Amino acid sequence: MAVIAVTKERRAGETRVGAVPETVKKLIGQGFAVTIEAGAGLAASYPDADYAAAGATVARTLKDTLAKADILLKVRGPEADEIAALKAGTIVVALLNAYNERPALDALAKAGAVAFAMEFVPRITRAQVMDALSSQANLAGYRAVIEGAEAFGKAMPMMMTAAGTVAAAKVFIMGVGVAGLQAIATARRLGAVVTATDVRPATKEQVESLGAKFLAVEDEEFKNAQTAGGYAKEMSPEYQAKQAELVSSHIAKQDMVITTALIPGRPAPKLVSASQVASMRPGSVIVDLAIEQGGNVEGAKLGEVAVTANGVKILGVPNLPGRIPADASALYARNLMAFAGLLLDKDGQFAPDYEDEILKAALVARSGAVVHPQLKA
Ligand code: NAI
Repeated sequence: MAVIAVTKERRAGETRVGAVPETVKKLIGQGFAVTIEAGAGLAASYPDADYAAAGATVARTLKDTLAKADILLKVRGPEADEIAALKAGTIVVALLNAYNERPALDALAKAGAVAFAMEFVPRITRAQVMDALSSQANLAGYRAVIEGAEAFGKAMPMMMTAAGTVAAAKVFIMGVGVAGLQAIATARRLGAVVTATDVRPATKEQVESLGAKFLAVEDEEFKNAQTAGGYAKEMSPEYQAKQAELVSSHIAKQDMVITTALIPGRPAPKLVSASQVASMRPGSVIVDLAIEQGGNVEGAKLGEVAVTANGVKILGVPNLPGRIPADASALYARNLMAFAGLLLDKDGQFAPDYEDEILKAALVARSGAVVHPQLKA
């Protein structure tokens, strides 16, 4: 019987966990044994007793958790102490952040682990249930609006009272992938007047279907900005200049700007300049969701609320899904559970098929080396 281990996340501020009691029960139903490190789910409100009731073995130490592990399921890539406790050949499945955390990936390869990056799971229909980027980005988009509203000294909805009328907040969402779409929906639910922009033409209809207004430079480059994989291309400096000009006058009138723009494998595009920030009214709020990839907003600082000279707050909140750890863990744990199912053959035996399209796309290290084509030096 293959053993799945789940360790406590070690990264500072990481509140999520790679399994919840519900997924433990289902993994056991699929024929796995599950060992979880004591306290692994506490920050996400899942106590040890619930894992034990679901059938997991709760191990007191990291060494005991990993001693018999065939598979390690995690949120972040393993830290040095976890890598040191892995037996060679253990399959590690996590959001490895493979482009940005290369030394950790090299260490994992060197330890003889078979590493799969959840962020590389292809966005094909069969893999939708494993799409951790979407499950977490959706929650991040929601939470960004909540964080923004909390920092905003005004109300979001229009209110007509005997003492006067409160105007609806104007919210502008830049980058309308999974996070941006949820940010639009959340801001609308709070009563804001929402506009949004993106470089992929497909987003126009999605934005409008959520009741927001779309704003973009719709030239020839825009028409070809989506890759076959559905992602954005890096735009030319000329396009970026036109984009900046178009959004400049718009940004100046907004109460809240939420930026989510990312390009896989590249630093986040800079979308909001210091002068655009300076054009906003005092009390306006910007939430930069791309902060961990370098940020979309000039002046945004990781883990800080930067307040500009003109009184605009720029929130650089890292790990937004980690601010709703119970739901973020529950959804991510289901993504991992579905992925673990791929490691079984049709008879339910632990026998990963390395020719499987999804496993092939997500495999980043095996037999002592980093093997993903996009990560080879
Ligand atoms: P992402 O996190 O890579 O990027 C966020 C957004 O930023 C994207 O919409 C992107 O177009 C936008 N962006 C990049 N550069 C920009 C710029 N200079 N200005 C404005 N916006 C910019 O995107 P995410 O959320 O991962 O979605 C990527 C694609 O994957 C979308 O087409 C989405 O619909 C698709 N998708 C498909 C799924 C499936 O199962 N088939 C599941 C989830 C997403």
